[in-house]
Amino acid sequence: MQVEEKKQIAAMSALHEIQDGMIIGLGTGTTVQYFLEGLATRIKNEGLEIIGVSTSDRTTRAANALNIPIEDLDNVDHIDITVDGAGEIDKYFQGIKDGGAAHEYEKMVAISSNKNIWIVDDSKMVETLGHNLPLPVEVVPYGSTKVLRRLDNEGLNPKFRMVDETNYYFTHEHNYVIDLHLESIDHPHYLAAWLSRQVGVLEHGLFLDIVDEVFVGTDDGVQHLI
Ligand code: 5RP
Repeated sequence: MQVEEKKQIAAMSALHEIQDGMIIGLGTGTTVQYFLEGLATRIKNEGLEIIGVSTSDRTTRAANALNIPIEDLDNVDHIDITVDGAGEIDKYFQGIKDGGAAHEYEKMVAISSNKNIWIVDDSKMVETLGHNLPLPVEVVPYGSTKVLRRLDNEGLNPKFRMVDETNYYFTHEHNYVIDLHLESIDHPHYLAAWLSRQVGVLEHGLFLDIVDEVFVGTDDGVQHLI
């Protein structure tokens, strides 16, 4: 089965979790796009009344195009369920969100949700985090080279994410992203706590103890991990 099909079947399975009247956190990425399309179909066909809370400009644009109602995070008092994709996830449901521009918003929405579901194709399931993907760290531009040096001194192999040779990649909040190119993240809680203590770091892409359920698209269908 092609990877896109695996993403699609994972997304369709998560749709069964959605009930009328829910406030739903809407993640970001290509797998979430399939979920949005399925959600729009249910809204149209079943008259489902839901409110979506978006995690990125990309998702807001997609939701608007699909007539999915969107409300600001600050205007809802809770979120019933959030459905999001992931860069990597291990068997303990610890993961990396690697979008960079979106992980701060995604984490805000995730921690405001009663339940978090990730939808992934099976290439995202890993033994150890950080092996296949860099870990993004959002940093404020002021003093960011000093932050880079601190990360470097810690042996974290940091590199500014660039759009091209001269232009920095900017997040929604107009911050920079420093990617940590690590062989593996053996102690994710330790690293997350250390990063959170660094002045100048806004948020990192480690999502720990957040995810409740995972739908994994595989060659043999969808695995529902709880
Ligand atoms: C965005 C993310 C994405 O959810 C993650 O990269 C997965 O993307 P895709 O579904 O396109 O493979 O973390 O910040």
